[in-house]
Amino acid sequence: MSRLAIIGAGPSGLAALRAFESARNGGAEIPELVCYERQSDWGGIWNYTWRTGLDAHGEPVHGSMYRYLWSNGPKECLEFADYSFEEHFGRLIPSYPPRAVLHDYIVGRVEKSRVRPYIRFETTVRWVEYNETTKKYLVRSHDLKADTYSDEEFDWVINASGHFSTPNVPSFEGLDKFPGRVMHSHDFRDAVEFADKDVLVVGSSYSAEDIGIQCHKYGAKSVTFSYRHNPMGFTWPESLDERPLLTKVVGRTAHFLDGSTKDFDAIVLCTGYLHHYPYLPDSLRLKTDNRLFPLGLYKGIFWEEQPTFMYLGAQDQYYTFNMFDSQAWYARDVILGRIELPNAEVQHADSLVWRAKEEACQNATDDIDFQTEYIRDLLGSTDYPPLDVEHVAALFKEWEHHKEENILTYRDRSYPSVLTGKVSPKHHTDWLGALDDSKEAFLASGD
Ligand SMILES: Cc1cc2nc3c(=O)[nH]c(=O)nc-3n(C[C@H](O)[C@H](O)[C@H](O)COP(=O)(O)OP(=O)(O)OC[C@H]3O[C@@H](n4cnc5c(N)ncnc54)[C@H](O)[C@@H]3O)c2cc1C
Ligand SMILES: NC(=O)c1ccc[n+]([C@@H]2O[C@H](COP(=O)([O-])OP(=O)(O)OC[C@H]3O[C@@H](n4cnc5c(N)ncnc54)[C@H](OP(=O)(O)O)[C@@H]3O)[C@@H](O)[C@H]2O)c1
Repeated sequence: MSRLAIIGAGPSGLAALRAFESARNGGAEIPELVCYERQSDWGGIWNYTWRTGLDAHGEPVHGSMYRYLWSNGPKECLEFADYSFEEHFGRLIPSYPPRAVLHDYIVGRVEKSRVRPYIRFETTVRWVEYNETTKKYLVRSHDLKADTYSDEEFDWVINASGHFSTPNVPSFEGLDKFPGRVMHSHDFRDAVEFADKDVLVVGSSYSAEDIGIQCHKYGAKSVTFSYRHNPMGFTWPESLDERPLLTKVVGRTAHFLDGSTKDFDAIVLCTGYLHHYPYLPDSLRLKTDNRLFPLGLYKGIFWEEQPTFMYLGAQDQYYTFNMFDSQAWYARDVILGRIELPNAEVQHADSLVWRAKEEACQNATDDIDFQTEYIRDLLGSTDYPPLDVEHVAALFKEWEHHKEENILTYRDRSYPSVLTGKVSPKHHTDWLGALDDSKEAFLASGD
């Protein structure tokens, strides 16, 4: 029997386990599976941790999520095609759940399957190497509890370790003498810390937007966003504004490219994340920025130079859970011999076509269409249950429009499930007034 290693038990790794479970339930013979997970539980970045820096074993803390984080897209856009929100919660729930509710949904699907025994928790992968002679991968792992290393051989490897955990941290002149808090969004945990403070947020993407409005929600005196290329351009409430890039900090005073200055109490660098795979040799390591079609991966999955090595979830993400599923089902079918891969030249030529389409994208609408087409392409080849991606794309575009209308109220909207057509109920409290993000508070009277 062949052996498959899966690195990571976040949504992508769990999608892989679920894909094989589904094939096994259908009578297929599946490879022996071993999933290595550094954390003590599954769920990936959706596990909240108060820790920053290093964890209890001295490993880098994986979590980048913070308290009071709510989904930044409608849950209808990420619904698993084989497990609806209604099935999980036994009723309809509002469209924008907080982190704990989405975590419950992700793990709910795998709790109902038999995949947990495949996972070795608190076990980190330290090194992966391909042996040209045996045609097998050696995976060296570290059992963090026992503090022992072991080597095992595999025929296939799926890398599903996420890429929003290792912070990209630029420096700016004067930060070393700034008298207040300076942190990256990876270490941001609780907006309450910034109540009554003037906060500078560097960056103009999702972390900047969400951490900025979150600080506003929990009482920051002011929030100033500083952008490198383009402003976000939302209509901000009075105490929020956008300025060009930070050039230097002198004492508490930040200087911006347009010559303006302002005093701050804290600086949060929302400057994105690095693809960081220190356990992979050059020959297997994806080196890319955060984008919709990293080069080197056929179908966005298979390492072209060696397609028995795969990446799940390596793209920038509009679609998330159902994209990971569509990738996992495709990867599974290649491993099971149901789909044959073309030769390396054809793979690379295909990737270049996708890359050219990605580069032609001009705005968020184009990006959504691109990722929709990408997923449609994968879904066409597997038995993943029907998913109306055109409908999902339409919801994403509505979501973009609702954000532009009002960045503080877009989370109060409701959307229909693409699986059932049923429209979500309105939440009992507007997002801006919903200070308690617990599952209990959210579900208390949501119907
Ligand atoms: C702040 C933030 C907010 C987000 N909010 C949303 C949202 O609202 N909606 C949404 O759909 N998406 C959101 N995302 C996107 C998120 O990336 C995906 O939802 C999803 O978590 C990606 O799943 P993944 O399994 O690929 O990666 P992850 O969730 O990062 O999981 C990777 C797993 O691999 C493990 N791992 C890493 N290295 C090793 C190793 N060497 N050995 C063993 N295990 C290892 C980690 O411990 C982790 O459990 C957000 C991302 C961030 C950073
Ligand atoms: N649920 C939620 O509410 C929520 C909250 C936060 C994050 N997320 C998710 O987390 C993921 C990561 O988002 P992200 O915003 O952290 O990363 P990102 O989308 O990769 O954006 C990185 C940002 O950092 C800026 N930047 C990078 N280097 C810089 C530098 N040297 N100086 C100034 N600016 C610099 C970039 O500017 P340019 O644009 O100019 O390049 C960009 O605005 C996304 O998938 C997002 O959906 C979700």
